[in-house]
Amino acid sequence: EPEVIDEPAPMQRRVAEERRAGRTVGLVPTMGALHEGHRSLIRLARQRADTVVVSIFVNPTQFGPDEDYEHYPRDFERDMAACAEEGTDLVFHPDPGTLYAPDHSTWVDETSVSAPLCGSGRPGHFRGVCTVVAKLFHICAPDLAVFGRKDAQQLRVIRRMVRDLNMPVEVIGAPIVREQDGLAMSSRNRYLDPSARRQARCLRRALDRAAEAVRQGQRDAEALKILMTGVIGEEPDAALEYAEIVDGETLESVDRIEGTVLAALAVRIAGTRLIDSEELTPD
Ligand code: PAJ
Repeated sequence: EPEVIDEPAPMQRRVAEERRAGRTVGLVPTMGALHEGHRSLIRLARQRADTVVVSIFVNPTQFGPDEDYEHYPRDFERDMAACAEEGTDLVFHPDPGTLYAPDHSTWVDETSVSAPLCGSGRPGHFRGVCTVVAKLFHICAPDLAVFGRKDAQQLRVIRRMVRDLNMPVEVIGAPIVREQDGLAMSSRNRYLDPSARRQARCLRRALDRAAEAVRQGQRDAEALKILMTGVIGEEPDAALEYAEIVDGETLESVDRIEGTVLAALAVRIAGTRLIDSEELTPD
């Protein structure tokens, strides 16, 4: 059974012991409701570090006022079982009250990579993510931290924050884990009723079509966006938030496909917001 710690100071003392004993620390930050995607991150951390820490914290500061903070799935017992099965050593599970002082007033704000894509539809989201991840890095002092490529923009924002603020943490990106039919696993998939769940396959389908077009020589970003938009439009309950082709690193929009680009989608299916993305490299 992993050891559970629910306050910052004891966690800092606990990881200091690990480091004094010469053990490397790997952190997997999560908001719980753990699924196979999260488990794959824990397994990667298990391979790469001596001591594996999983944080489970539904971070209020990254949710907008009209988002699902209150309804976000919480199931600590099940999450603990998953952490135990994957060989987690320490679980950090703070209350919002112990992590954020009532008069908390310091923020970490990455302002470039955060701006497009999800940044424009979710103002303040990445500021909340950066702030909590910076706090988790200070509390857990990891040598490495694992993030999923499922949240492609988040991974790039974190890499930029780590670089810009000289955080001594190696950021590792892990592959997207998918359901059998291609839907990227997400804690929010459980909001989908059977009809919405079927329609949700359109994200993967749109990315497949874009990848196929690039293989066949399409180099025009606008044409790829129109292609993806059309696939999403095939589903009656799908509302496109964005379908973009951006630079694989800076996330700035591109006109022509030259180096590696990211094809990125955000779609509401019957009200549930889903994202997916794929790196496309012309040969
Ligand atoms: P959460 O959505 O719980 O995701 C935790 C980590 O799991 C993220 O790095 C995410 O990219 C990864 N992940 C989720 N679904 C995945 C999938 N299908 N395949 C691979 N990896 C997947 O992301 C957050 O929490 C929060 O923003 C957090 C970083 C914890 C800060 O609060």
